[in-house]
Amino acid sequence: MSVREILKMGDARLLQPARRVEALEWDSDALHLLVADLWDTMHAHSGAGLAAPQIGVNLQVVVFGSGQPNPRYPDRPLVPQTVLINPVITPLAPPLAPPDAAPLEELDWEGCLSVPGLRGQVPRWQRIQVQGFDVYGDPLQRTVEGFHARVVQHECDHLFGILYPMRLRDLRAFGYTEVLFPELAPSRP
Ligand code: NI
Repeated sequence: MSVREILKMGDARLLQPARRVEALEWDSDALHLLVADLWDTMHAHSGAGLAAPQIGVNLQVVVFGSGQPNPRYPDRPLVPQTVLINPVITPLAPPLAPPDAAPLEELDWEGCLSVPGLRGQVPRWQRIQVQGFDVYGDPLQRTVEGFHARVVQHECDHLFGILYPMRLRDLRAFGYTEVLFPELAPSRP
């Protein structure tokens, strides 16, 4: 287990789609080691989540959440500690909406350990169903909303070569964390 180097925006490896984890790889030493390295690296940088391509591993594996307050996002709700592999995201309409209602988007601030020092307002689905697998290959399915849904969508974007600045619609809502949020410690990206 070790803290790995995080690739930064501009590195072509962050733009490649990651491949799915295959049946023979479930519960393997290599997969457990990758997940341990993702957690160690995420915690070393107080990240909300981390995707395998960010440490140069081209596999559909993300980790996110901690169940504890995150110093980079101190006012956000807690997200359970989760390993998510081969994810599929389906946008959902609000729970009490009519059957034909469209899923809603919402804007909120995001940062990324591969885009240090910056924050931008990113549109995301407000509510999603996420399906995937854990490290043992057991299926995982959740319906989540708000910040939890945002973290899932951000991390899963990394698996398809998408960094959040590619989703910005208004570059006026994009800037340096220390200017936008001076209350956050300047050392935190
Ligand atoms: Ni990111």
